[in-house]
Amino acid sequence: MTDFFDQICKVLAETEAKRPGSVSASPEVSQFFSEAVKSPDSLAKLQESLQGCCRCNLHCQRKNIVFGEGNPQARLMFIGEAPGFDEDRMGRPFVGKAGQLLDKMITAMQFSREEVYIANIVKCRPPDNRAPAPEEAECCMPVLKQQIGFIRPEVIVLLGAVAVKYLLNTTSGISKMRGRWTSYENIPVMPTFHPAFLLRQESAKRDAWADLQQVMARFGKFHRR
Ligand code: URA
Repeated sequence: MTDFFDQICKVLAETEAKRPGSVSASPEVSQFFSEAVKSPDSLAKLQESLQGCCRCNLHCQRKNIVFGEGNPQARLMFIGEAPGFDEDRMGRPFVGKAGQLLDKMITAMQFSREEVYIANIVKCRPPDNRAPAPEEAECCMPVLKQQIGFIRPEVIVLLGAVAVKYLLNTTSGISKMRGRWTSYENIPVMPTFHPAFLLRQESAKRDAWADLQQVMARFGKFHRR
């Protein structure tokens, strides 16, 4: 049934694209169909649609948009804060020092980097590695939400306070949120410390590992000594 009506909507949307206003006299319905043809229908098209994005001021100083990378059908997704210097240079998420630690965390979880998907709250580097401003995060969140919608991972791991704040829309700090299951759009979410924080605070690695082991258990993976 859904497919049948999806097809009807697709035809209507295409008709509306060719002849705007032809589908319905109602401006709301008309707008719905013109939006529908504009919204990308795959992760790749979403990425394409971001080329040259200048929705917020972060575009002024960026070298590259860091869309995210990994398996579009990943069962496990990691979400960080924002690209840093190395990520901006390379156009890839988590490739600097924090990224090297994230790679080790992923391996310790018995996953490979290629198997998972890695994205950030904002896709462009905030100058001087500051946290993204609320208006920058708000500009970029629809992109992340669409990424999650396309991937539909079984579990999301949120890396650090900024990811928690904007995806879960909460002011609760990471120390309170970490290690406790929560959810986003019915997807189980595990908040944990950001790898950059773990590089500064070695002693927090034990807690982060406990959080990640809860995620592993969801996938039937267990750490045996
Ligand atoms: N820190 C992040 O939050 N994201 C990156 O991509 C790199 C560092």
